Amino acid sequence: MARPEYLLFDRDTKAIFWNLNRNAIQRMLDYDYLVGRSPSIVAIVAPTQSRKFDKFFYGTEEIMIPIYRSTTEAAEAHPEADVLVNFASFRTAYDVAREALNIPTIRTIAITAEGIPERLARDMAARAKQEGKWIIGPATVGGIAAGAFRIGNAGGTLENIVKSKLHRPGSCGLVTRSGGLFNELSNIIARNADGIVEGIAIGGDRFPGSDFLDHLLRFQKNPAVKYMVMLGEVGGELEYMVVEALEKGLITKPLIAWCIGTIAKHFGGEVQFGHAGAKAGADRETADAKNRALREAGALVPESFNDIPDLIRKVYEDLKAKGEIGEIEEPEVPPIPEDYDKARRAGKVRRPTHFICTISDDRGEEATYCGVPISEVVEKGYSIADVIGLLWFKRKFPKWASDFIDMVIKIVADHGPAVSGAHNAKVTARAGKDLISSLVTGLLTIGPRFGGAIDGAAKYFKMAKEKGMDPFEFVEYMKKVEKKPIPGIGHRIKSTKNPDKRVELLKNYAKENFPSTELLDYALEVEKVTTAKKENLILNVDGTIGVLLVDMFRSLGFSEAEIDELIEAGAFNAFFVLGRSIGFIGHILDEKRLAMPLYRHPWDDILYDVKRPEGV
Ligand code: ACO
Ligand code: LMR
Repeated sequence: MARPEYLLFDRDTKAIFWNLNRNAIQRMLDYDYLVGRSPSIVAIVAPTQSRKFDKFFYGTEEIMIPIYRSTTEAAEAHPEADVLVNFASFRTAYDVAREALNIPTIRTIAITAEGIPERLARDMAARAKQEGKWIIGPATVGGIAAGAFRIGNAGGTLENIVKSKLHRPGSCGLVTRSGGLFNELSNIIARNADGIVEGIAIGGDRFPGSDFLDHLLRFQKNPAVKYMVMLGEVGGELEYMVVEALEKGLITKPLIAWCIGTIAKHFGGEVQFGHAGAKAGADRETADAKNRALREAGALVPESFNDIPDLIRKVYEDLKAKGEIGEIEEPEVPPIPEDYDKARRAGKVRRPTHFICTISDDRGEEATYCGVPISEVVEKGYSIADVIGLLWFKRKFPKWASDFIDMVIKIVADHGPAVSGAHNAKVTARAGKDLISSLVTGLLTIGPRFGGAIDGAAKYFKMAKEKGMDPFEFVEYMKKVEKKPIPGIGHRIKSTKNPDKRVELLKNYAKENFPSTELLDYALEVEKVTTAKKENLILNVDGTIGVLLVDMFRSLGFSEAEIDELIEAGAFNAFFVLGRSIGFIGHILDEKRLAMPLYRHPWDDILYDVKRPEGV
């Protein structure tokens, strides 16, 4: 249903909000919920956002509001919206308003930005009047149609809104310049009368898009408005337009008017108040002169600002006595849901968490690794191994252990292109896949036969030693009971005749630096048994790392149960995963650098043994 000309907003008003200002949008929706109307914002305009919608609360429920790249696009999708809440910065607000003035479905534009050049503000105001549209602002919080529609942050907190009875219509039409005084006056009107029907803060600039008189004339026509309050201020001539209207009899409802800034005369010289327009350039522009003129024209002008409450009370009670204002039945106010974060900080709510983290914390100024800020990690020269110590095992390792881990990472970093993981990574890269996919295919080959035998080696050698099996017994046990190869024993190309240098390096380091190499010594006895059978059944690089990690953790004071838990969790294989990722990435980059084509395995390297089954 079409709204009468004098009404800018009602309970069905829908708005487009320009700028993804989550707080202001949420406040408008909170107001909607409070007054029991449907959500007033139907679209958001945010030209730089890639998202298509954002979520907000309406009461305790979440709703989705679509985001558009331009006001035109938003208005096309939402012709039901006739208000644009323009929260753009002062650099953009003019262009946004200009665009909106050309959109037929938009009738009212509220502009919050302060500092729009006066020339542009005047141009905007003139164009709006030409088009029969309304601009509220610039430099304003906007206003409220009580119980129907709130612009942005007008009225302050929800508690303040209820206290100032802005959640349901009263009988006063209010117009001020500033938002602060708008709140102050609505509160005074609520306490001394029955609140406002509508209140508009026209903004502090010298040339607002709509002025006192524009709104007072609307209020004059609005039967719900029984009297009006106008709060002007020193500077400018806008109040004289009201004086003239009073003189011409265009305003007949009681009008309580006051211009603040009467104090200016005590300062001597020109005084600039907060607002851009609040400066008396001529005698006519002083608050005193304007108050005098308003009084002479028939407005109800108090002696001082302090007398406003009594005057409002008197006007209200007179109108009530005449039967023009009735009793208002106070609507029920729903409980206002509190934001979880706020309520939690106030100690009012609690809820169980879904995740636990005991290794790092990013909530402070800087993230910490197990309590150590990253800057300290860098400045105090922590090595990669030290970082692993903090994040994987929550320990600061002594130098011998840290150096060992460093050595392990270096040693397992690569073993040429022929090993299964590197081969897979290369084939994948040549199939045109990206680095991460190629890396992952390489990593997926790490397992009991290739690179991932570290956990198994640690587990079985540790178990055998703990159970007191002699090396021969252990080899037999693995063959007959477990029926599987001993993890950490055997190599495709390394043997007693072609020893693995890496294994030598690890053993030598441990012998020189570890407090104890008990499990390594046991594994070397097992190796004697296996290499006696076959020369390639050496303690391989995985096996050596596995047993040495057990020796290391024992020396660091980890309990047997803790070590078993680490092995079970895959923590020992993790060293190979991390180290070999370096090599895989190298191979993938190599493929990309060489721009190698798709790989196809040669037929002559495959034994084809495909026979047609009988009867097929
Ligand atoms: N324990 C006991 N016997 C073994 C082991 C072992 N780990 N590995 C091989 N053998 C025996 C086989 O049973 C076979 O015996 P047989 O001749 O009596 O039948 C013989 O040695 C040859 O077996 P293959 O499987 O042909 O040996 P291959 O040289 O191909 O295997 C491999 C190499 C896959 C590494 C193998 O030794 C193995 O599975 N080892 C355990 C897993 C392991 O440690 N992998 C990590 C390797 S290091 C790395 O990837 C970084
Ligand atoms: C490796 O480190 O990848 C190797 O020990 C495996 C291999 O086959 O060389």
